[in-house]
Amino acid sequence: MNLTQKLTQLQENGSAIWAANFYNLETLKGILQASAEMDQPLILQLTRGSIEYMGLKPAVAMARAMIEDYDLRAWLHLDHGDSIDLVERCLGAGFDSVMIDASEQPLAENIKICRKVVELAAPFSANVEAELGYVAKLGQSTEKVGFTKPDDAQFFVAETGVNALAVAIGSAHGFYKEEPRLDIALLKKIREAAKIPLVLHGGSGIPSVQVRAAVKAGICKINVATETKKTFMRNVKNEVLVQEEIDLRKIFPVGIGAVKKLIGNKIKILM
Ligand code: 13P
Repeated sequence: MNLTQKLTQLQENGSAIWAANFYNLETLKGILQASAEMDQPLILQLTRGSIEYMGLKPAVAMARAMIEDYDLRAWLHLDHGDSIDLVERCLGAGFDSVMIDASEQPLAENIKICRKVVELAAPFSANVEAELGYVAKLGQSTEKVGFTKPDDAQFFVAETGVNALAVAIGSAHGFYKEEPRLDIALLKKIREAAKIPLVLHGGSGIPSVQVRAAVKAGICKINVATETKKTFMRNVKNEVLVQEEIDLRKIFPVGIGAVKKLIGNKIKILM
């Protein structure tokens, strides 16, 4: 089953899947161990930064080999693709899905770029995700608001042919200063208008009740990244402080275990 088919199935069932970003072998391992233990599929995501850090080929090879090793159903997705060139490289490297994020461009330009990506992804039967509206990225103002408008969503989907749409309904990337309040009523209107699987970015720190309400109202994919980084680093840092150990193979498993627990708990929210 390709990811477009999976997301359509989730949409029909009113359920969702977690999409977890990984940064190295250890975070990848923690995420996949959670998926294996809970016997639940998930999406693995790479950003430009992670691709540059690990190298495209090594990152893909590592993910593919580990998915096979754990005997899992998992899809590989480009998160926040910011150029046609990056999208093409990822499609060529065997990604199942790509996000093109032109959400900061005017609507007409966003449409033009997404159309091109849909065209490029077609021969690979790859899933295409786009974003409409303002979801604050790390370092951007969370004061600014630019929620997705249902009419724009309908027009955008019809004009581009994207398979999934990331929406702005009150979430933001990174840490929340105060509890987020997702606009569930707006989300329902976007669902009615867009009619395709919707994606929630900024999954770190959204309370479980709101995650479940969002899924009920049309969210089929939820991204989580910041919490994974924080969990891994905090745990490794604590371990380094309390141990004289220099063998990283004895320290890193603490981080792997903590990521496994974090993602396991995320998966439980949707079960
Ligand atoms: P967080 O870093 O807030 O979890 O957001 C993840 C995300 O949306 C990646 O696209």
